[in-house]
Amino acid sequence: MSVIFSGIQPSGELTLGNYLGALRNFLDYQDTDECYYCIVNQHAITVPQDPKELFHNTRSLAAIYLAAGLNPDKVTLFVQSEVPQHVQLGWIMQSISYVGELERMTQYKDKAQKQGESIPTALLTYPPLMAADILLYGTNYVPVGDDQKQHMELTRDLAERFNRRFGETFVVPEIKVSEGGARIMSLQEPTKKMSKSDDNQNATIRLLDTPDQIVKKLKRAQTDSDNAVRFDKENKPGISNLMGIYRAITKDSYEAIEEMYAGKGYGAFKSDIADLVVSTLEPLQQRYNELINSPELDKILDEGAVKAQAKASVMYDKVIHAMGLCRK
Ligand code: TYM
Repeated sequence: MSVIFSGIQPSGELTLGNYLGALRNFLDYQDTDECYYCIVNQHAITVPQDPKELFHNTRSLAAIYLAAGLNPDKVTLFVQSEVPQHVQLGWIMQSISYVGELERMTQYKDKAQKQGESIPTALLTYPPLMAADILLYGTNYVPVGDDQKQHMELTRDLAERFNRRFGETFVVPEIKVSEGGARIMSLQEPTKKMSKSDDNQNATIRLLDTPDQIVKKLKRAQTDSDNAVRFDKENKPGISNLMGIYRAITKDSYEAIEEMYAGKGYGAFKSDIADLVVSTLEPLQQRYNELINSPELDKILDEGAVKAQAKASVMYDKVIHAMGLCRK
């Protein structure tokens, strides 16, 4: 049995990218492994958040985790800020990270650019906190999208660095990137990742979008003018992205999709993919609506925090002993 850890930020309504690149894959492990799935609200505050929205988005993300099919009897589902060992170990991870390696993170560079003159320090020190999240649980595998590869490499480096300096303590975790759906692109600028924080509403499909919104957004998705359903990421990024979504849902190969739509054009393909996305999200939305206002949700998170803390405190104790931070 392996330990699995992953997290999603409650920084806005989740997108189809979050679902296909991460959330859906979390289900693969719940029957066989020891799973910890976290709502990483302390990562969300690395850029300014409205407190009311953050509170709402945290519960909403918990309901989405469950609506996607995670079973709280099998996995530990919890909120990061309710398990203080995360920030405690995050600080320690900062003490062994170098400013240079943090400044090289592409996500830092992208996000910092959007903050103008006032870049929150936590945006820079975000990856050591992410490393702490993962390392606290003795994690073997981390299912995430493609965009987290660099952070995962750093996590591995920090684990190895700590083990060299203070003795074997952490498990060095491995990344698990999904086969299809690891990088879903914006529907409007298909060379850019689909992102929760995109201001252009047409660029992202949100998990709670209505069927009508989904159909409209997919119809308006940017494609080239040659009307041939053919996978060519370089020259036809728009249609290739839609084919990626199709493949992530059906598991059909690109060749099979090309054959199916040979001579049919983009109209037919877009209409079918819209049906596919709507029927994938409909059951999730139904369960979400049942859960979001139920007291059960808070009970699950309360229990999750207790279970997570029991596990995290063992590793944290080991760390502070190894470093001489503990008198007893
Ligand atoms: P976040 O909240 O940005 O995204 C959550 C998950 O969704 C994946 N993802 C995508 N996958 C495919 N296509 C996309 N367009 C797309 N956009 C997002 C992300 O790769 C991620 O798996 N740093 C993390 C949160 C985090 C974390 C952790 C993850 C904090 N601590 C520990 C794993 C383990 C993040 O910002 O994810």
